[in-house]
Parts: sequence; C-alpha cells; structure tokens
Amino acid sequence: MKTIKCVYLNGKFLPPNQASVSVFDRGFVFGEGIYEVIPVFGGRPFRLAPHLTRLESSLAAVRIRNPHNASEWDAIFARLIKENDVRDVQVPRSDERTEATNTGDQSIYLQITRGAAPRDHAFPTHTTPTVFAYAQPLNPPDPETLASGVSAITTLDIRWQRCDIKATALLANALLRQQAVDQGVVEAILLRDGFMTEGAASNIFIVSGGRLVTPPKGPYILPGITRDLVLELARANQVPCAEEPVSEAHLFSAEEVWLTSSTKEILPITRINDKPVGRGKPGPVYARLYALYKDYKLAFCQGKVA
Ligand code: PDD
Repeated sequence: MKTIKCVYLNGKFLPPNQASVSVFDRGFVFGEGIYEVIPVFGGRPFRLAPHLTRLESSLAAVRIRNPHNASEWDAIFARLIKENDVRDVQVPRSDERTEATNTGDQSIYLQITRGAAPRDHAFPTHTTPTVFAYAQPLNPPDPETLASGVSAITTLDIRWQRCDIKATALLANALLRQQAVDQGVVEAILLRDGFMTEGAASNIFIVSGGRLVTPPKGPYILPGITRDLVLELARANQVPCAEEPVSEAHLFSAEEVWLTSSTKEILPITRINDKPVGRGKPGPVYARLYALYKDYKLAFCQGKVA
C-alpha cells in the first residue's frame, strides 16, 4: 500500500489516507459494484479499448450509468500512472514474499458502485455512483516461474450464473482461490456440470492434439481481455485454435494447460491435482504464444500498436 501515493475518488486525486467512502455505500453494504484491472506497460494502459468496452457492458448489466467517457477515463488513468510512477524503487512482489526489481509496469484498479443510500435491496432512485481508482506497481510472473510452470487444483464452480459481469462481489471467487492457496497451489480451475469454466481469477486454455482450446464466452466465464488477445495472436499467426466446451476428461488429458489474466499474463500450469500436465513442463504451443505475446507487448511499448 505504501507505494500508492495517490488515488482517484469521485473527481478528486488524493493520498489514500485522505480518501473515504460512506458506510452506506452499496458497494460496502451489498457488494454492488463492478470493476476493471488494466495493466500499464511502457506508461500506457494496455488494451484500453476492450477494457472500457467490458466496463461499459458490466455497468449496463447492473444498470449503473458510466460516469465517464473514454477520454475522461484516459485522463484519470494518465494522472494516476504519473503520480504513482515508482520506476526507481524496489517494490514487493504481489505475493509480498520476495523482493523483485520493479519493471516500471503498473496496474490500474477501477471500481464503480451504485453509491450511498439507505439500505434496501431494490435500487435507490437518485444516487451518484462512487468512482474509485488507483494505479500500483505490477510485477508479472518471474522467469523461473514461467520456466517451471505452476500447480493448480480443480474444484466445483460454486459461483452464480452471471460470471460474465466483472462484479466486485467476489466472495465465491475468493473462497475458491483460497482453496487453491490452502493446498499450496496458484489457481483453482473451476468445473461446472463436468465442464471447465475458468480459473478463480483467470481464464484457462488447454492444448489438445496440438490445438489451442478455451471455453466459449457465455454466462459462466469472464470474457478476459488477455484471453481475447491470445486468440487474436493465435489466429493471426496460424496457430490452430478454437472456442469450444472443454470437458473434465479433456482437461485431464491435455498436453498443455495455461491460465491468462491481465496481471499474470500467460502462465503455464504444469501440475493439476498433484499430477503432471503432459510432460510436466511448459509445452511448445505455450512457448510460441508467449513469444508472440511478448513481441506484441514490446510493439505496444514502442508505440507500434495502439
Ligand atoms: N481477474 N476470469 C476471472 C474470474 C478473473 O477474475 C480474471 C481477471 C480473468 C482474466 O481476465 P483479464 O484477462 O481481463 O484480466 C478471468 C483480475 C486480474 C482480478 O480480479 O484481479
């Protein structure tokens, strides 16, 4: 927290200890809000347009009006990025266990709730949404982790039927992710009716018969921005890929399994439920897509892609 010098709250840029929200805010009382996590590479938000499009559809789904247009969001993010730039200091990694060199990358967290009102489940008629955002240092997984891959468990997807909304009410996701942490692994891969949905905080890809497969979009997964970029890069580079349901059996017989998210990028999962995935190390399709992703990110940092 101490690396965050400035947050945005309802039109103001403030030190975090001067930012406060009403105890009657429906985000606090009902968990009624939506959010985005946007990576910042080379000082600019990465894949901003799709993040803002997803923000718009999450807001529409819960009937909160978008308080800002794209250029206003852009200005808010630019100021947060500038105020929180800590390129020359060492910051704790996200798991706060080891120190790592700061890459200068950041992530923006943005949350909008319906605002403060007397407690009643039904929507209040006149409330002003609460808008909160900050930027913090981002350290994607280190090279050793990428080289070995990480472990995961499978567990039952106990969430609701609107996982496509990026809602701040993440109790089920938190419980699921904690199950993984309690078992000493990085992610919980969720299964619903015998099919894989996604991770507790990530999308999941498998490689089967050399083909990259991820579940199609729908009410049971978050339409991940990193997921879409991986598919876009695969298609543009003739890597066979498909958006198809993935059964539990299909998952367990996969040659490769990866997770994707804005903060973890593309991370190979090399053990599931204590058994190796394929040969138990990151596979060739992962190596290809990760190289394409890194090239794309570099081109973005050099201003060659939008
Ligand atoms: N979570 N699915 C779930 C349930 C997620 O929480 C996330 C990301 C993703 C990946 O989406 P994207 O590629 O757009 O980051 C999929 C973020 C990083 C979080 O909650 O911190």
